[in-house]
Amino acid sequence: MPEAPWWHRTTVYQVYPRSFADSDGDGIGDLPGLLGRLDHIVALGVETVWVSPFFPSPQEDFGYDITDYTGVAPEYGTVADAQTLIDAAHARGLRVMFDLVLNHTSDQHPWFLRSKGSRSNPRSDWYIWADGRGRNGRRPPNNWRSNLEVTSAWQWSAERQQFYLASFLPFQPDLNYRNPAVKDAMFAAVRFWLDRGVDGFRLDMFGQIMKDPGLRDNPFRPHVDTGFPRGWRRVYTENTADVITFARELHAVCAEYGDRVLLGEVFGPPETLRGLHAEGAGLDLVFLFDFLVFRYDAAWFADTIRRFEEAFPPPMQPTYVIENHDRSRCIDRVGGDPAKAAVLAVILLTVRGVPTVYMGQEIGMSNTYVPLRQALDPIAARYFRRLPEVVNRRIPERLNRDEVRSPMQWDASGNAGFCPPDVRPWLPVNPDHTHVNVAAETGVAGSLLELYRTLLTTRRDSPALNSGTLELVSGLPADVLGFRRTDAASGEQCATFANLGRTAQTVRAVGSVAMAACGGAMAERGDLHLPPDAAIVVRRERVAYDTMDS
Ligand code: BGC
Repeated sequence: MPEAPWWHRTTVYQVYPRSFADSDGDGIGDLPGLLGRLDHIVALGVETVWVSPFFPSPQEDFGYDITDYTGVAPEYGTVADAQTLIDAAHARGLRVMFDLVLNHTSDQHPWFLRSKGSRSNPRSDWYIWADGRGRNGRRPPNNWRSNLEVTSAWQWSAERQQFYLASFLPFQPDLNYRNPAVKDAMFAAVRFWLDRGVDGFRLDMFGQIMKDPGLRDNPFRPHVDTGFPRGWRRVYTENTADVITFARELHAVCAEYGDRVLLGEVFGPPETLRGLHAEGAGLDLVFLFDFLVFRYDAAWFADTIRRFEEAFPPPMQPTYVIENHDRSRCIDRVGGDPAKAAVLAVILLTVRGVPTVYMGQEIGMSNTYVPLRQALDPIAARYFRRLPEVVNRRIPERLNRDEVRSPMQWDASGNAGFCPPDVRPWLPVNPDHTHVNVAAETGVAGSLLELYRTLLTTRRDSPALNSGTLELVSGLPADVLGFRRTDAASGEQCATFANLGRTAQTVRAVGSVAMAACGGAMAERGDLHLPPDAAIVVRRERVAYDTMDS
């Protein structure tokens, strides 16, 4: 059997650079700051670091609106700093992924400034332009909605007297990849970073990259997609067949450099995601966002894991994510209870596939309340502020994203060690940093940070946990989630049991030895004792695993 690629068994840590570590005292995190904190990531035991965008940008969407794909924004450092970061990470055995925002640029990108200037300049068809409808041509060309669904995806350009497509926010015009010159320009930027040694890319909004060239209307059919209510089925704007063709071409560019990984941000039902991830379809990994809207419930996790095990059987790797820079911190979804956050960590880091940990998740950082009227996040500032149900905070999915981007909490000092105490950080530091921080949790038995370290290093060293098959354990008490992990080559067998209920449970598991535990879970004389909100990971030592069921 050929050796599986490195990314089959990796673990990913997401750094939002603006909020990670500020090295020069301007209140904004930067690449040298990240470099200075690389050892935290190494000590955590993760194997890959994914860095959110740090390229030149007007920062209207904090880096997801790019004006130069081969530069570094001055507040983050220089290209030389990016190179140093890649090299330093490699020297420590870490892989590095950058964030590739292909779908759109900033409306300040020189390409767009040129494109909107006239209908006949060399960049005129680098973006998706169309005439409007109606007698005066001022009705959008079709019914396509922006991702937030509250507005049309079409924006009027007075200069060009035409509409341009902006699937996300109006200042992020979509590129036209049906123009080969656009693809060439972007692939040159991709090669620029591959030449510098980057190990792969997280692909922003990748499912939306190729739209229907005929601009057909999407059918109106309300549904819910990864927690978001949606009105239109995006059959002509998302996950079209051409997306796979594009992914293959991008994959071929990466293949020129060997074993580089493409991790897609794509949305849709498991079958669709599987299509994008299937052998030869171009995307090596695709995010599965269902955990972002988890119910703290054993049956919910069992069903979700079962669905993705069916859709992504080995050697495919499900890529689970429970927090990121766009959605609520997971601890806020469980009433701020660190015991429940610990159970979630055990599930995330021992389930089959590639887990992603968002900076600060490992210490139990919570959402930092920022009133909507002070929001910097363009979604919150432009749209959510006006929606009454959001103002009343009834839709947790529609939060002000500033709340999950507050500075990383390194210690109890002023500004949490993110920037000097006398500097104003770009977003407020969470007041709980006095006790929720890396320094306070380091070396403390039972802390969330030490649990993450144990789980990540245990997983790294255990073939069953990092590459074994998964089988859900049946016949357990209703509130207990259980799954076995088996590595056929080494014969190692492990299992995870998590009690998400309110009463203590005991599970029979003769011959099992604890590898990691939280919430007071224990293995003792053939029994696993699981108090409420407790979980344990065990390795089978002596007896056949079929005695593991209760
Ligand atoms: C990123 C967001 C960003 C958007 C537009 C996303 O899905 O995760 O942070 O605002 O794409 O680029």
